[in-house]
Amino acid sequence: MNTMEKYAKYVNTSFVKALDPVVVAKASGSKVMGEDGKVYTDLYAGISVVNAGHCNPEVAEAAKAQIDKLVHCASYVYYAPTVADFAEKLAEVTPGRLQKTFFGNSGAEANETGMRMAKQFTKKQEFIALQGSFHGRSLATLSITGNKGRKRGGGPYIPGVAFHPAPYCYRCPFQMSYPSCDMFCAKYLERTIQFDTSDNVAAFVAETIMGEGGIIVPPKEYLKEIKKILDQYGILLFLDEVQCGFGRSGKLFAVEHYDVEPDIMTMAKGIAAGFPLSACIARPEIADSFKPGDHLSTFGGNPVSCAAAVANLNFMLREKLPEKALAKGKAFMLELKELQKNVPLIGDVRGSGLMVGLELVRDKQKTPAPEEAAKIKASMREKGFLIGVGGTYANVLRLQPPLVISSEELSSAVSALAASFKEVV
Ligand SMILES: Cc1ncc(COP(=O)(O)O)c(C=O)c1O
Repeated sequence: MNTMEKYAKYVNTSFVKALDPVVVAKASGSKVMGEDGKVYTDLYAGISVVNAGHCNPEVAEAAKAQIDKLVHCASYVYYAPTVADFAEKLAEVTPGRLQKTFFGNSGAEANETGMRMAKQFTKKQEFIALQGSFHGRSLATLSITGNKGRKRGGGPYIPGVAFHPAPYCYRCPFQMSYPSCDMFCAKYLERTIQFDTSDNVAAFVAETIMGEGGIIVPPKEYLKEIKKILDQYGILLFLDEVQCGFGRSGKLFAVEHYDVEPDIMTMAKGIAAGFPLSACIARPEIADSFKPGDHLSTFGGNPVSCAAAVANLNFMLREKLPEKALAKGKAFMLELKELQKNVPLIGDVRGSGLMVGLELVRDKQKTPAPEEAAKIKASMREKGFLIGVGGTYANVLRLQPPLVISSEELSSAVSALAASFKEVV
């Protein structure tokens, strides 16, 4: 049996009807090589994970060195030097007073941790989350995920979650336009608190920039307006930077675009260039609401993952990956906006840094075009480019390459997209 046949028989996959038919043999930087020798330019980065490039040599070397010393000894039972080192670095580079980190293995685990911490600190039980959001596939994180497609078959979910309209300007839930809306969707939070909660809200949880929901970038005033209201009601600001963190948005953390201080922030994906690790960082007084015995993760703070994470962060900062992502992303979006002029199917081009989305629509009424999005993705693969598809209506092309991708590769991706659109329309 070959790899695909073994998958069909032995691997439980469910996210899509069929996986992308690429058996990945190896990868380096922004390139992925299939088992058949075909080379792809990667515009998806393993779902926005290998921000510092596939098999980044510095990260790999740090991990290999750590493997020779210690792979695992339960970092929450004994002290592990790389855990301490990475936690110290995170406290230095994250905004505001965020200081103490709990390490887990996945984005969902980090968000579960943040939810529990928020409850213990505030002694309140409810959450407000955004419509269209995605926070993971555990029971609690699906409970704060605002997308029926992701939640199907898993209910009933935990009670006490109110869903607030997202700052999705292209499909404004209030039929308004930015900036004349005067941030109505943020101000409306008072009404959500008033009418959809029992005045017992621990935290407002949001992706700083929505990923799975279709690359939704809030206007620059949004989070300040939200924070003002949260402070009035004693509600914590809990930002999920699992996808938009680690340089992806053009800043090390997307919250740096918004000039607010979160109380709790979660990270995963780009944290260690592909090694499994997640982090939930909080102000010390919030983190200390966990009492001895409250929380643990056997693999959490794996020494190899933490060694990789330190090397990953050093590489990102030294190579100025966030700044470069910002500049490359701006040029990339300009080219995509040019393309949009000739392709009516592209309803919207949006993004921040190298977190870019193209929302495909069939007509002026913005009827979502999910079948066309799937066809473009397949056509791009034929041409040697890997891209993602997301959004509430599965009609958003997601372009989230490793941040080390070159400007030339991005331009050739735009040319390939132009050809794919010609084929599909
Ligand atoms: C914003 C966000 N939060 C949480 C998660 C869940 O992360 P994981 O799949 O590592 O549990 C994801 C995954 O896509 C995500 O994009």
